[in-house]
Amino acid sequence: MTSGTGLPEKMRALVVTSRSEPPTVEVVPTPKPEVGSAVVRILYANVVSYMGDIYTGKRQYPFPTPIIPGTSAIARVAAVGPDTTKLKPGDLVFVDTLVRSRDNPGDAYLAALHHGFTAGSEKLMTNVYRDWTWAEYTRAPLENLTDFDEKRLTSSISDAGLGYQISQLAYISTLLVPYGGLRDIELQAGQTIIVAPATGQFGGAAVLAALAMGARVIAMGRSKTSLEILKKRVPYPERLFTVPITGDMLADCGELKKHGQIDAFFDIGPAEAYNSTHIKSAIYALRHGARVSLMGGYREDVALPLGYIMHSNLRLYGKWMYERSDIADLIKLIENGPLKLGEKGGSSVVAEFGLEQWKETWAAAAENTTLGEQVLMKP
Ligand SMILES: NC(=O)c1ccc[n+]([C@@H]2O[C@H](COP(=O)([O-])OP(=O)(O)OC[C@H]3O[C@@H](n4cnc5c(N)ncnc54)[C@H](OP(=O)(O)O)[C@@H]3O)[C@@H](O)[C@H]2O)c1
Repeated sequence: MTSGTGLPEKMRALVVTSRSEPPTVEVVPTPKPEVGSAVVRILYANVVSYMGDIYTGKRQYPFPTPIIPGTSAIARVAAVGPDTTKLKPGDLVFVDTLVRSRDNPGDAYLAALHHGFTAGSEKLMTNVYRDWTWAEYTRAPLENLTDFDEKRLTSSISDAGLGYQISQLAYISTLLVPYGGLRDIELQAGQTIIVAPATGQFGGAAVLAALAMGARVIAMGRSKTSLEILKKRVPYPERLFTVPITGDMLADCGELKKHGQIDAFFDIGPAEAYNSTHIKSAIYALRHGARVSLMGGYREDVALPLGYIMHSNLRLYGKWMYERSDIADLIKLIENGPLKLGEKGGSSVVAEFGLEQWKETWAAAAENTTLGEQVLMKP
């Protein structure tokens, strides 16, 4: 049975009814497009490494129940609302998971994961865009859908394409996070940036994005082995240098300075790295007037050398996620070649699962967290 939109009346979806009960695959009504939205058929939905912790309550993320979980995805437009002027059924799109209020974009939240930090974002998630991508279909705001040049991306190289598999496009979701911070600090081709720590999921993606933007990158990390793996996997290895975090702030700063003038520092440390020496090593190594992007997930206050920051005219930018305009710009970097996906770009799809395998999906995502590794849900 299909509705007037051509959509089936029912679809399969994973439903989380409570944090203490296992989710179940259910047959539920297919959402309908409304003004300002489209319904998309999900091809590949992303999985974050701690997704299982969120939906089982181990990580206390606020979200309403029942809910269809999910994050970003690659999808095809299935039906559009009456005010759509560009997208049409069949278009291949990136589904952005960061939903913003139309009349107050500061009210923003991560669909189906976290209702955000304002009363407005909580209201929007609870009442409007709540169910997300671990389903055959989802309804998404038009602003959250960015179309691809599918022919260019997926045609063979002999046919002037890039030869990508559609599943490989899902890595855009990870790349976008550091790209938001790198854009904020106006990283330019030919400049030098420190990325630290560079050996985790988002740090590795920051290295890949900064290299694609034409920068020279100094990657810092505690594990020399992980830094060596990074060097082997990235495209443009001739522009990547590594400096281990040894715990000796001044010595590491000295190693950084051996690379000459440094224009920027991108930090993406996890909560436990709040007192890591890399933060000061990197700041003291920066040139006068350099920029710092702070995207780390610190929960404790971080001690910063304010005297040096002041005298050096450093500019510090905090960033949560990215701007909407960053999405189309990042996709252009891929379509036009500098930002590479798949093995040649340092990323790989390590596993794909169906909805019934939600448990295996969460476990695989938690296990595969080194540079560019991706686990995908294929509903
Ligand atoms: N601002 C935003 O919008 C945004 C978005 C997404 C994520 N984040 C935040 O980014 C952070 C990193 O996320 P992720 O998924 O990339 O994490 P991840 O994959 O677990 O990577 C963590 C990185 O930090 C290093 N590390 C761990 N403990 C450390 C310590 N005590 N001192 C120095 N380095 C340490 C790890 O290297 P080792 O091999 O040395 O352990 C690894 O390179 C999280 O806190 C997250 O909340 C922010």
